[in-house]
Amino acid sequence: MSRENLLILVPTYDEAENIEKLLTAIFDLYPQREVSGVSVLVIDDNSPDGTAAIVEGLMGKYEGRLHLLKRAGKAGLAKAYLAGFEWGLERGFGEFLEMDADLSHDPKYLPEMIAQIQSHDVAIGSRNVKGGGAEGWPFSRTLISKGGSLYARAVLGCPIKDLTGGFNMWTAEALEKIGLDRIISQGYLFQVEMKYRAWKAGCSVKEIPIIFRDRTLGASKMSKKILFEALLKVWDVRLSAAGATGEFLKFAIVGALGAATNLLLFFALVDLLGLAAIPVSVGCFWVAGTQNYALNGKWTFAGASAKLSVKKWLAFLAASLVGLGANLAVMQAMISLLNLPFKFIAQACGIVAGMALNFVFSKFLVFRKKA
Ligand code: GDD
Ligand code: MN
Repeated sequence: MSRENLLILVPTYDEAENIEKLLTAIFDLYPQREVSGVSVLVIDDNSPDGTAAIVEGLMGKYEGRLHLLKRAGKAGLAKAYLAGFEWGLERGFGEFLEMDADLSHDPKYLPEMIAQIQSHDVAIGSRNVKGGGAEGWPFSRTLISKGGSLYARAVLGCPIKDLTGGFNMWTAEALEKIGLDRIISQGYLFQVEMKYRAWKAGCSVKEIPIIFRDRTLGASKMSKKILFEALLKVWDVRLSAAGATGEFLKFAIVGALGAATNLLLFFALVDLLGLAAIPVSVGCFWVAGTQNYALNGKWTFAGASAKLSVKKWLAFLAASLVGLGANLAVMQAMISLLNLPFKFIAQACGIVAGMALNFVFSKFLVFRKKA
């Protein structure tokens, strides 16, 4: 078993009261790096309470196995962990373990997790399997956690019992399979997305029972924003992990929203205000097309092309026109060649053809991935 190579990642934001206790507990368990192969990386988002300075003060004592990644400011759990994984992968670590700084994740579980990762790609410290649980949480927080896990499991159709927990271990290969550059979450949803993507990629996952104890010092960083992100964005996580199928679905949703905008505007200007239909219709095409462009750039193909630009906007509108052309051609051809009971069937086929063409143009030309 190769244990030369484990990096424990600890994200911190205002954990001055906890961080030394945690590091002492870890290094008491694994006193010698040469024997245990265990190193720790603290990822601090410039905590106002001076967490980083405390870690720096301990680096002499734990020379060579305690590291600190200082970041500019609070940017959420996902960014912190992603930076930590990148740091470790660059240095050739083979195993990664995530844990909170506030002692909610007891280091006594580390040996069992390390043992399980020898035969699995992912080891999860789980509150929701037999023998696991959470202590010290107010009822509201238990409800959020249990409800959140059930909700995420239902939306994602994923059998992992503790999707939201933050005490997890990954092999470098598992991180590779997950594809860290495709992660879309910012807050605690990150933990759900990582596990879901790992499971989808065929990683073997082992859940190990743990008792989570609520922190006694400092404050949780859980917020309404984090909760809200999780509730809605978990659907996005599912679509985003579905590859081109998910992209096409998002593209269709954006297209439907564009059609709604187009119709509303047309109704207001033509039916209510009495403007001429043809110029208004052309204007509606521009407005709806621009809305589609922005939503597709920021959502459907997010990641592929970070920035919106005038050039891409015009290219997208041109692609939409090509799509419209295909729509008209297919509709006209079907009406003249086939004996349809209703003409709208031809229009429906036209819409599908136009949208498919528009999608292909958008994906491979307008928003194509930069190498
Ligand atoms: N660097 C950095 N940046 N660290 C952060 C940030 C951030 O923006 N937000 C939180 N952290 C750190 C905290 O300092 C702590 O070490 C750890 O992440 C977990 O944050 P807590 O605020 O203690 O989380 P919790 O106890 O409410 O939530 C726990 O349960 C969640 C749901 O099961 C954690 O285990 C979460 O990971 C888990 O998702
Ligand atoms: Mn906590």
